[in-house]
Amino acid sequence: MLCKARKDKQVKMNKKTLNIVIVGHVDHGKSTVLGRLLSDTGSLGKGRLKQVKVNCEKNSKLFEYAFLIDALKDEQSQGITIDTARVFFKTRKRNYLFLDAPGHIEFLKNMVTGASKADVALLIIDANERVQENTKRHAFLLSMLGINNVAVIINKMDLISYDRKAFKEIVADCRSFLSAIDIEPLSFIPVSGIKGDNIVERSDRLNWHKGDTLLGAIESFVKKKDPLNKPFRMPVQDVYKFTNFNDNRRIVAGSVISGDIKVGDEIAFYPSGKKANVKSIEVFNSPKHVKAITGEAIGITLTEQLYIKRGEMAISSQEPFPQAATRVRASLFWLSKKPMVKGKDYIFKLGTSRVLAKIETISKTMNTSDLSEARLAKSIDKNYMAECILQLASPIAFDLTQDFLETSRFVIVDDYHIGGGGIVLEALEDKNSAMRNKVVLRNYKWIKSMIPRSQREEKYGHSSALVFITGNQNSGRKALARALEQSLFNKGRLAYFFGIGNLLYGLDSDIKTDGKNRQEHLRRLSEVSHLMLEAGMILIVTAINLSQEDIRLINVAVEPEKIEIIWVGKKLTTNIEYDLKVDSVKNMDKAIKAANNLLIEKGTFKS
Ligand code: GTP
Ligand code: MG
Repeated sequence: MLCKARKDKQVKMNKKTLNIVIVGHVDHGKSTVLGRLLSDTGSLGKGRLKQVKVNCEKNSKLFEYAFLIDALKDEQSQGITIDTARVFFKTRKRNYLFLDAPGHIEFLKNMVTGASKADVALLIIDANERVQENTKRHAFLLSMLGINNVAVIINKMDLISYDRKAFKEIVADCRSFLSAIDIEPLSFIPVSGIKGDNIVERSDRLNWHKGDTLLGAIESFVKKKDPLNKPFRMPVQDVYKFTNFNDNRRIVAGSVISGDIKVGDEIAFYPSGKKANVKSIEVFNSPKHVKAITGEAIGITLTEQLYIKRGEMAISSQEPFPQAATRVRASLFWLSKKPMVKGKDYIFKLGTSRVLAKIETISKTMNTSDLSEARLAKSIDKNYMAECILQLASPIAFDLTQDFLETSRFVIVDDYHIGGGGIVLEALEDKNSAMRNKVVLRNYKWIKSMIPRSQREEKYGHSSALVFITGNQNSGRKALARALEQSLFNKGRLAYFFGIGNLLYGLDSDIKTDGKNRQEHLRRLSEVSHLMLEAGMILIVTAINLSQEDIRLINVAVEPEKIEIIWVGKKLTTNIEYDLKVDSVKNMDKAIKAANNLLIEKGTFKS
């Protein structure tokens, strides 16, 4: 026989592998059809079929082809952890990877997290039960995730006596439903998984069907070619530091989702906009690479030391930039029992980034089993799709669905479980967008010092920090700031205090001091702070009644982990989230000690 099933490791995942996801309503025969395909092509390991049959007999169970898939699942899960059956299958023409996903959540999770990128989907429909709710929901998910290559398998034809007329009715029904969600099926194939009709061999009982068998159809699927010049995208998985003496290198690790990158190329990281050249490409247990391509898990070292974190997206600075925003318009599919509601914090995961997200508005919802629409819904119920605006707690980088689907898909986590997922349709402005754009450009154009940050820290005996001392008028902010500056200075630290007044009549003298210019004043304050932090300083800044919104704005220009906030005064009169509250500065020694402890705790210096 021409086919041979192989286990995970043996099959080389080369470009010719076609990934097929099998979806459909519960019990419509997904596993049976797949089991039969493997069995009839002689793709099962030696004796496998017999073994499963003997097992069934021993347990007085009727043999099911689906058990073959379950058996594979058990076998595989001993080696690697997988929650969905992944079945490899090989013909002379190419390799296949089948994904038999047990439910919507697994299906969505696999697709969105990139555990599998399906080239084609088989939508299995029971000829007797016809199109059911999950048939529609799965089709809807396929459409939303951009998997438009779908073949419809009408299974259990034996139960309707191989009736051509009934088959045609199901096809018509299916076509009209699928066209409403922009799916044009590649083919409709009548089969019986149990009897083996039209799976591998043509069946006399279905001789009215002139199209392909299932195997024939699979073999003739054309894999969509990845468009040439797809931009380089690598979500940063982690940043590792070498620990060897005097080795300051950091390795930025991740998997290349698309495009390629070579040693010497200039890459940028979004949403920060920081950039550097690729110094080396490291691949685990492999000689050094000069180039990395789509699908490879790599580590990159850079010509300059950048401070980037997991969640940023590496791109090539010669190619289109991704979007960066904290507000997005998204299309979302909700799968959890508990409806998704406004005002609640959820975790939004896209690529390797993870941020808190809230629904701002829901513009419409749609019941995915009948496509009925509702406007002005207050929540998103189970199995509903919604178009909504999401507010993210911090900026993330992504692409828009129409530009690039892989980096546009996200999942929403609710109480540690995946609640739903979707795609980003549009990046929206927020209050800080203008400033963020300036900061991205600033980072992009930044001329790096040749002295690495770590060497500066070593020399000064501390890292840089921005200590904001805020509170009401006459609360003693300035007194504390001065005393803290003095105490740090006495210990040989590079500390400097400046009040906002120092900026207002100097750097800010061209803009009025009224409320209208507050954002610009804060932007300049942030930029000056950023410069001094780069120089290695512990900077102490006093400002009256800072709010959390002010801090959010400052965070755009200054790394949030560099900022410590001290509130002075018994009563908190803004919504600021402080790191330390000093009720009074009457006992200045005590206040200074507390501020010192805060800096030790945050790792600015050791003691
Ligand atoms: P889930 O994984 O639970 O969603 O089910 P599934 O879609 O994988 O269905 P499965 O293959 O487990 O089959 C469900 C039932 O339908 C089993 O009892 C099969 O024997 C039966 N079945 C599958 N294909 C056929 C068929 O072609 N004809 C008949 N008569 N029964 C079938
Ligand atoms: Mg199954």
